[in-house]
Amino acid sequence: MEFVIEAENLSKTYKTEGKKILALDNLNLKIEKGQIFGFIGPNGAGKTTSIKLFLGLIHPTSGTVKVLGKPAGSPEAMEKIGYLSEIAYYYKFLEAKNLLRYYASLKSLSKEEADKRIDLNLKLVGLYDRRNEKLKGYSKGMLQRFGIALALLGNPELLILDEPTSGLDPIGRKEVKDIIKRLRSKGISIFLSSHNLSEVERLCDSIGIINKGKMISNKKISEFLSYDKNVYTMTIQDKEDKIAKLFKEKNIKIEQTENLHLKTTLPSNDIPEIFKLVSDNGGVVVNTIPGYGDLEEIFFELVAPKEDKEDKKDKDKKDKEDKKDKEDKKDKEDKKDKEDKKDKEDKKDKENKKDKEDKKDKEDKKDKEDKKKKKNKKVKAKEN
Ligand SMILES: Nc1ncnc2c1ncn2[C@@H]1O[C@H](COP(=O)(O)OP(=O)(O)OP(=O)(O)O)[C@@H](O)[C@H]1O
Ligand SMILES: [Mg+2]
Repeated sequence: MEFVIEAENLSKTYKTEGKKILALDNLNLKIEKGQIFGFIGPNGAGKTTSIKLFLGLIHPTSGTVKVLGKPAGSPEAMEKIGYLSEIAYYYKFLEAKNLLRYYASLKSLSKEEADKRIDLNLKLVGLYDRRNEKLKGYSKGMLQRFGIALALLGNPELLILDEPTSGLDPIGRKEVKDIIKRLRSKGISIFLSSHNLSEVERLCDSIGIINKGKMISNKKISEFLSYDKNVYTMTIQDKEDKIAKLFKEKNIKIEQTENLHLKTTLPSNDIPEIFKLVSDNGGVVVNTIPGYGDLEEIFFELVAPKEDKEDKKDKDKKDKEDKKDKEDKKDKEDKKDKEDKKDKEDKKDKENKKDKEDKKDKEDKKDKEDKKKKKNKKVKAKEN
């Protein structure tokens, strides 16, 4: 069997600002010739890093990679690879055809050969009628299709497309997908990275799922979806809130869907028994489909739970810290309240004491004056 990409224990660690980032961790991958291989994973999973290694644009920290049987980045490999980068900028003030002619001149193609290829590729990506327009008037989808025409300029055996449909509307995405299918029918092998799971599911022959630099699954699409296995995915309405509990007792893994249905995957032999259990307990089987459901479910099963768990861990940690902060704050406030209250009471006490003393002084003074007055009166009476 011929392979277009063979990666062995391929790892890449970036070093930036004193930090090390393990972007790719021991990738082992063999991609068969003639197929569309979909490389999916969340942001930062290591897709573009892998692609850059395949193209020899960066060097691996360890491991090896061969492309079309040759070392990655070697001239022999590069002349047979077409590449559409994740973010592509083109000179916008030239017409599509003329810009392709310019790129063709860098490849030292004869003018006749270049024009032939350019027209063919522009037809293939549906831009032939707009070939004499400047790129500044092209829509995003048209620019993406232009990028594919450019990647095809060297008649590649392998086309590497880094998120070719990102940012396109459904029509643009369909156009690009149709182009990719057409290219496969011409025998071109395609390596495609994408976030769009349903697109990859419909388009690709094999899929690799990468998460946090690690390839966590790599299979043919039919194996992924397990249509050939004796497994069914059942959606259930738990009308009387009994079934979830019963399933847990029986150790049957269930999950709740967005519309509050229960979802479970079972061996086909168990289906009759579960149907009975559901109906005996007031539930309804909404549907039963073969396999593990769609790729989106498989992806979330493989990738999201880990992230959710980590998110939850982070959240729990943050919640704890927040709780402690709140308690500390409350303690401080309580202490301050107590001190304020005590201050107020002390102040009041002082005021009361002072009032009392003032009052007593006043009374004493009055007494003294009264006594003095009385004494004066007596003296005056005596004199008279
Ligand atoms: N030049 C670089 N220097 C330092 N770190 C980098 C560099 N390029 C990528 N990384 C880091 O390596 C990891 C993988 O990045 P990569 O671009 O390969 O992911 P990706 O799967 O292509 O993501 P996306 O879907 O967002 O394009 C990330 O943590 C990223 O921050
Ligand atoms: Mg990327």
